[in-house]
Amino acid sequence: MVSFGVVMGDITRFPAEAIVNAANRYLEHGGGVAYAIAKAAAGDVREYIRISKEAMHEQLGKDSIEHGEVVVTPALGLERYGIKYVIHAVGPYCGGRWDEDKKEKLRKAILGALRKAEELGVKTIAFPAISAGIYGCPLEGVVRTFQETVEEFSQEAKSLEKVYLVLYSERDYDRARAVLENGDH
Ligand code: APR
Repeated sequence: MVSFGVVMGDITRFPAEAIVNAANRYLEHGGGVAYAIAKAAAGDVREYIRISKEAMHEQLGKDSIEHGEVVVTPALGLERYGIKYVIHAVGPYCGGRWDEDKKEKLRKAILGALRKAEELGVKTIAFPAISAGIYGCPLEGVVRTFQETVEEFSQEAKSLEKVYLVLYSERDYDRARAVLENGDH
């Protein structure tokens, strides 16, 4: 059984064996949580972009990723918090709009990361609110999609025990809690 919980914090120091990055297709890590993870892991963001692109070539044999595809990079400096892997996944761009297509793309991104975590044999994984920042998807829709997708994934989970959704601000955390508490999905 996989448990799902929302917590408030900084994902770059959250003690999960794997953390997920809300990446773009080219793993450029230019802003948001991607920049924060790259900076915290490697010190030098350009160096982590280089490592990520090399990993993408090795793991997928191409220069960009689609929703549902993921790339794994080492945690480097984040290992001090017990983090072993960074799993890069790409959510949808919403620009304020939310519909079934965006939801499906986010579902694929979440499932891709969860399946990779299983493959890596980790017990705990932490996600940021993928697409709810620069990509402009409504937080409520994102949180609901996380809840539903983790529930769906529970059926196939073997090693994975805990999935955390890490919210960066108190306001986002309160909004996420409200979604889960009023859950009528
Ligand atoms: N810990 C946890 N969450 C964080 C942190 C952090 N250190 N920093 C930011 N966040 C939160 C934001 O508040 C937001 O809710 O992560 C969520 C996702 O925001 P973005 O990083 O903007 O990700 P996204 O909306 O998916 O946009 C992806 O942004 O950084 C670029 O390269 C990335 O182009 C891609 C785009």
